[in-house]
Amino acid sequence: MNFYDHIKPQLMHRIGREIRLARRVLDIGCGPCDLVQHLADTYQQDVTGVDISRRSFPRAQRTRAGHRFRCFQRDAAILSFALDASVDAVVSVWALHEMERPQAVLTEVRRVLRPGGELLIVDFPKGSLAQKLWNEDYYDPDEVSHMLVEAGFSEVKVRRIERLQVMWAQAQQPALQVAPR
Ligand SMILES: C[S@@+](CC[C@H](N)C(=O)[O-])C[C@H]1O[C@@H](n2cnc3c(N)ncnc32)[C@H](O)[C@@H]1O
Repeated sequence: MNFYDHIKPQLMHRIGREIRLARRVLDIGCGPCDLVQHLADTYQQDVTGVDISRRSFPRAQRTRAGHRFRCFQRDAAILSFALDASVDAVVSVWALHEMERPQAVLTEVRRVLRPGGELLIVDFPKGSLAQKLWNEDYYDPDEVSHMLVEAGFSEVKVRRIERLQVMWAQAQQPALQVAPR
């Protein structure tokens, strides 16, 4: 078991806690739909997962406890199934570095997030153990911070957690400004 397999349960727990108040959640690059089901089960959230790869997603659309979720094939850069401002939180785990058009994805995420909605990106940072394990190219946290600002997010915070081996990036869709009378 490698370091990342080892921390998976605590990481899923930490992600869940971070976005527990969201009602409608979107997981982009959801893979086999594990986090989607975990969130639906643990926090009774209405969770949708999308992944660009054709996978054998679960056929069921409710957890054993009866909470709604769904996972299907879709490019996160084109979330045409979701209305503007229709989602309270977007999460993405180990996927940003694989996305061909990350800036287009972030722009699309902003469109579907409601004002004040949260984005949480978890990925391997440049120079991490993951780079040695899989020899892939990852972003530096400063690059991700820049991409989020560029896409128009506010409250951008990007840091390394779990002995610096995990990048934890948070941002918000800016809240609506109330015009003074
Ligand atoms: C390393 S896997 C992580 C899967 C899952 N989030 C997990 O934690 O196990 C990265 C996933 O991102 C998906 N992906 C890459 N580009 C994507 C895109 N543009 N839109 C949606 N999914 C994408 C890949 O197909 C892959 O399943």
